[in-house]
Amino acid sequence: MEITWWKETVVYQVYPRSFKDSDGDGIGDLRGIIEKLDYIRDLGVGVIWLSPVYKSPNTDNGYDISDYRAIMPEFGNMDDFDALLRGAHERGLRIVMDLVVNHTSDEHEWFAESRSSKDNPRRDYYIWRDGVNGGEPNNWASFYSPSAWELDPRTGQYYLHYFAVKQPDLNWESREMREEVYDMMRFWLDKGIDGFRCDVINATKKPAGLPSSEKPANTASGRVFDMDMMFNNPGQAELIREIARNTLARYDVMSVGETCGATPENALDYVREGSGGLSMVFHFEIVDNKERWTLPFIKAVQRKWIGALHGKGWLSQYLSNHDQPRQVSIYGDDARYRVESAKLLATMIHTLPGTPYIYQGEEIGMTNTRFSSIDEINDIQSHHTYNEMTGRGAPPEEALAHLNRFSRDQARTPMPWDDTPGFTAGKPWLRYNPAFGEINVKAAMADPDSIYHHYKKLIALRKANPVMVYGDFEDLLPDDEHLYVYTRSLGGEVWLVALNFSANQAALPVNAEGEIILSNYGGAGAKYTADAGLRPYEAVIIRR
Ligand code: GLC
Repeated sequence: MEITWWKETVVYQVYPRSFKDSDGDGIGDLRGIIEKLDYIRDLGVGVIWLSPVYKSPNTDNGYDISDYRAIMPEFGNMDDFDALLRGAHERGLRIVMDLVVNHTSDEHEWFAESRSSKDNPRRDYYIWRDGVNGGEPNNWASFYSPSAWELDPRTGQYYLHYFAVKQPDLNWESREMREEVYDMMRFWLDKGIDGFRCDVINATKKPAGLPSSEKPANTASGRVFDMDMMFNNPGQAELIREIARNTLARYDVMSVGETCGATPENALDYVREGSGGLSMVFHFEIVDNKERWTLPFIKAVQRKWIGALHGKGWLSQYLSNHDQPRQVSIYGDDARYRVESAKLLATMIHTLPGTPYIYQGEEIGMTNTRFSSIDEINDIQSHHTYNEMTGRGAPPEEALAHLNRFSRDQARTPMPWDDTPGFTAGKPWLRYNPAFGEINVKAAMADPDSIYHHYKKLIALRKANPVMVYGDFEDLLPDDEHLYVYTRSLGGEVWLVALNFSANQAALPVNAEGEIILSNYGGAGAKYTADAGLRPYEAVIIRR
C-alpha cells in the first residue's frame, strides 16, 4: 500500500458562506476564514476543503459557477484568496478547492454563447436535444426541479440539467470543452492549491443516447428520478483518468470524488492505486440511508467497502458535510447524551480505515435546529423536497417536519464563535441555531472535557500512530445491534475500538484487556478490564 500524506491527514470542510463574516454583510467571506486559520490549525487537521468560492449567482450557493477564475464578490477577491492560500501554507495547512464541472451556472459566458444559436462554436459545450412528440426529450426528473430538461425558446431546443434549471450540464463529449476545463484546473493548481474535491464527478459521463428510464414514475410530476441512469455510466472511469492525466497527476495533490450511487466496484475503478485516477471518493451508502439506518447496516456497509478497497484503493470517512443534517442529531442523541454521542461518532470516523472529514461545527457538536416555516429555509433542494412532498399530498407540517430532520440548511446555520454568537456584526444570511448560548467555539475551547478537545486528541493520535491509518481492520461483532467493536492492527500492534451506540450500560463480550488510550469518559492511561462494560454512548480505544 502506498504511503502518502493524504492518507495520514484529516480534512476540515469550510462552508464559507456560514463560517465567519469579516465585513458585517451577514455572509461569511475569505477574510473571515483567514481570521480563523489559527483555530483550524490548532485542531491539528492538515487540509481545508473549501466549498465553492467562485463567482456565482447562488441559486445553489456557489455550486452554480458563472466564472471559474473569479472569486464571488460577497466572499472577497483574488487578492484575498491568495492571502488565504499563503496564510494556510504558512501554518502547514493545505487547501483543497471544490471543482464543480458537471454543470455551470446558466450565467456562465459559455452557456450564454451556447444558447445564442445552434451554430455557435460553443453550442456543444452543453447538452441540447430536440423535443420528442411535442414533449421533453426523455422522462427524466432532476434533483432540484420537476424536469431535467428546460426548453430554451431562442433555438427551440431543450438543454439538460441534472440539478437546478439554472445549472445546465456540461457536455463532456466535447473535446474543446474538456480542454478548457483542464486549463482552468491547471490555473488553480499552478497557484499552488493542494487538490480538488470533485463535485458529482461520476455524473460527467452520460448514458449513451440519453434514453428514457423504464422505472416506474417516482416524482409528483410523473417523471422518473433514476440515479442508476444518471451516474456511474460506462466510460466514466476512463474519463476520470483523462481528467487526472491532464491535471492532477502533474502535481503533488489530493483529489476526492463525490460519487453518489457508486458501488465499491465503481469506486475501485475510480481510485485504484497506480491507475492514475482519484485519491479517494465519498460514497453515499450510509448518508443516503440516514432516514432508516441501523448499526448492523452501518457495520455491513463499512465491511463491504473496506473489504473491497483495503490495500487497493483509499476510502474516506464522513457523516457530515454541507448537504447533510447535523450528525449528532441523526446518528447520536442530541439531547441528554449530546456530548458523549458526538465524541463516539468522532471516535468512529477517526479510527475506521480512510481519511476522516470533519464538517465545520461538527467539532463542537452542533445540532439540528427547528425551522418554524419553509420561509426560514434557503436551500433549493429543501424547497424542491417540500414541493414534491406536498405535491404528492403530504400536509405542509409533515414536509416541514421532514426538513427539520434532514434539510441541508441544518448544516448551514452560521458557525457560533461565542455566545453573541460572533459570526457577523450584521444580520446573518440564514438564521442561527438558537443553541449558540451553550454550543459555541469559545465555550468548547474553555472546557477541557468538550467535544472539541476530544477531536483534538483523536486527530493527534491519528497523526502519531500509523496503526490508525494503515492498520488492518476486523469487525469483531458484526451482528450486535448496539455495539460496534473492531480492531486495527499493524506490525504486532493491536488497537481495539469499542463503541456503545445506546443509552444503556452494556457488557462487552470480547477480550478487551489493555491500556485505555482514549475514552469519552476519561481514564486514559488506566487499565481497561472487560467486566467494566460500556456506559451509555461510551467510546473507548484500547491498546491490547
Ligand atoms: C453536490 C454538492 C451539492 C450541490 C450539487 C450540485 O452534491 O455537494 O451541494 O448542490 O452537487 O452541484
